[in-house]
Amino acid sequence: FRTAAVIPAAGRGVRLGPGAPKALRALNGTPMLIHAVRAMAASRAVSLVVVVAPPDGEAEVKNLLAEHALPGGPPGSSWGRTEYLVVPGGESRQESVRLGLDALPPGFDAVLVHDAARPLVPVDTVDAVIEAVRDGAPAVVPALPLADTVKQVEPRADGSPEPVLATPDRATLRAVQTPQGFDHDTLVRAHATVTGSVTDDAGMIERLGLPVVVVPGHEEAFKVTRPLDLVLAEAVLARRRA
Ligand code: CTP
Ligand code: MG
Repeated sequence: FRTAAVIPAAGRGVRLGPGAPKALRALNGTPMLIHAVRAMAASRAVSLVVVVAPPDGEAEVKNLLAEHALPGGPPGSSWGRTEYLVVPGGESRQESVRLGLDALPPGFDAVLVHDAARPLVPVDTVDAVIEAVRDGAPAVVPALPLADTVKQVEPRADGSPEPVLATPDRATLRAVQTPQGFDHDTLVRAHATVTGSVTDDAGMIERLGLPVVVVPGHEEAFKVTRPLDLVLAEAVLARRRA
């Protein structure tokens, strides 16, 4: 059973503020993307990692991989046995993922899609996703219950107070993370046929009318989106080293 990971890393990181593309920003001295690549390669099941680079950052990403990710990792890890490919990304996350899928050589049974912006996901979460795909689920997402109550509102572009329309039952809601795992052929078919925007890959599988299942996510798989998330990510890394 062969598993590849596609890492969309082509976003600019507008919400993080001015600077380099988000995936290339450092966390405790190492680019976020490298942390994310290591998180995938840490799983013994992952034999290929495809990085979807910022459109003008392909050469830089190749250099970073050569510098940081390739030489064997800690004992028992599979970093040294993992292969890497780098392809340029697209305008949207969805397009970047499709470009990554297009670059996959034949022979993979499962594909993980993992945001470069979730650099700290633990290997146990990665393995749990792969395991559920291997057990026959066409699509698997790691997710956590919500801490905040969520309100549906009527958005107001002018900044005026937004009317609340409804309060969905929090117990039935989950915040979805990555890596999301897929049967390879199903994900390729979804990317070839589903039109319109979706914010995650599993959403495309839902559009095909196929089941998506949830496995437990992890707090440390949070997405680095805003400046405070950088502070949190660096604190998590410091705690791991302590
Ligand atoms: N992504 C991508 N190609 C794009 C847009 C996003 O590969 N055209 C990737 C990002 O690099 C990131 C992941 O999709 O790893 C999740 O997207 P997000 O957190 O929204 O990152 P950005 O789009 O970079 O951030 P922002 O929306 O704040 O600009
Ligand atoms: Mg974005």
